[in-house]
Amino acid sequence: INTPKPINEPIYDYAPGSPERRALKAALEEMSQLVLDIPLIINGEEIRTGNIGQVVMPHDHRHVMAHYHRAGEKAVRLAIDAALAAQSRWQSMRWEERCAIFLKAAELIAGKYRYKINAGAMLAGGKTAYQAEIDAACELIDFLRFNVSYAEQIYKNQPVSSPGVWNFVQYRPLEGFVFAVTPFNFTAIAGNLPTAPALMGNTVVWKPASSLVYTPYLLMEIFAEAGLPPGVINFVPGAGASVGDICLADPNLAGIHFTGSTAVFQFMWKTVGNNIASYKSYPRIVGETGGKDFIFAHSSADPQQIVTAIVRGAFEYQGQKCSAASRAYIPRTLWLVIEEGLKREIAKIKVGATTDFSNFISAVIDKGAFSSITSYIDFAKENEGGDVIIGGGYDDSLGYFIEPTVILATDPCFETMVEEIFGPVISIYVYEDEDYMETLALCDSTSVYALTGAIFSRDREATSTALTKLEHAAGNFYINDKPTGPVVGQQPFGGGRASGTNDKAGAASNLMRWVSPRTVKETF
Ligand code: ALA
Repeated sequence: INTPKPINEPIYDYAPGSPERRALKAALEEMSQLVLDIPLIINGEEIRTGNIGQVVMPHDHRHVMAHYHRAGEKAVRLAIDAALAAQSRWQSMRWEERCAIFLKAAELIAGKYRYKINAGAMLAGGKTAYQAEIDAACELIDFLRFNVSYAEQIYKNQPVSSPGVWNFVQYRPLEGFVFAVTPFNFTAIAGNLPTAPALMGNTVVWKPASSLVYTPYLLMEIFAEAGLPPGVINFVPGAGASVGDICLADPNLAGIHFTGSTAVFQFMWKTVGNNIASYKSYPRIVGETGGKDFIFAHSSADPQQIVTAIVRGAFEYQGQKCSAASRAYIPRTLWLVIEEGLKREIAKIKVGATTDFSNFISAVIDKGAFSSITSYIDFAKENEGGDVIIGGGYDDSLGYFIEPTVILATDPCFETMVEEIFGPVISIYVYEDEDYMETLALCDSTSVYALTGAIFSRDREATSTALTKLEHAAGNFYINDKPTGPVVGQQPFGGGRASGTNDKAGAASNLMRWVSPRTVKETF
């Protein structure tokens, strides 16, 4: 079969006065007035446990958008049973039909539900219109469409045969269920983590982050409308420990598809290690975790380009991207002009509610994030080795607002230079131009993470030195561009070291993790 050739979904710009902006505003208006009651969805059925969590708007935490039901032990076991029971029917469905369901879901998101899903990401996820559009609409649509074509490449990849001998590989789904654990910061990733294994014939238990239940629930409704059979993806919001412990202890656990914190991923991996003899097969573990992503400037770089990269790379979506730039290395000769540029550009940034389209950044996701990020800002204010030179203010009286903040670090190992902060904070270390090589080595050695990074240079030799010296410092490396915003099909995404297993989301290499190939040789 030939699946449709995927193209990246065009991005709406929501220009003032455009019909798209009007439609999105109407969806925002409508959804602001609703209070959803979000159930678990197990075997296609809504289940209400009565153990309730709240979804509030990050920019106005008095405003409750939904109540969601949390899964307890009984519900999680039910979800696992439903996933296992759905397996044989799902696997015997023709592959074209599985593809058709996800292609249909992509079209529903691109058309009928685009404004609804974007409004949900804006109101419940704290995204501006543009950030919602590139995530909850375009990136998710791209994942769904491109994965179909990558799956086709996998299935078509067959060994050679010869007269009298026929060799072929069957790309079987895993034996058991896949546990998908998704983050708060991208609806696209939330959608990709359960659907990628499902596309390859697996059934899934899906635990969304407690801080992003809203848009995942909308996706469950869309998947059902697209024709996804009951039991293929089972939706169980709840506390990580209660859902996770049961899934990880189940002998039928066949895989984990995770995006979230390094600490949780390492905990899950250890738990799998402790339980290893009890599983039917070794669970596949695929994870994308933290980052301490860098911008590295060589003295030949264009300073204005660096200012733009820092402002966009560090502060878009309040810096809550695993790929966000959170440390920068700037040569002394460029620093004054970059510092001036940052002060000028950051002064123009408007911080506020996502419903006001002129705001560039909004509130961070919740109280926990607010406390953790502001503790780093306070640390820099109170300790030697780094100073807050721009921003540093915060206020959570209405929403969880934190100003875009720049810390100038005199110590390259200052806490804010090496620890993940996951907020609108970047730390900058100014190095002497002649120490380029030593500072590259410093950049490489002072972080345990290796997700994204960028080199800015107009000198090819300096660029190529950075590529070599920072070979393992990033799974996604940018030359003269900000380190965020990879596009499915163009820059496969994922990192190594403590940042994850680097199986590249939205790529054939990721889908290969969800199959267990059987090689068949027949002689005639
Ligand atoms: N989708 C993520 C980004 O935009 C990883 O950087």
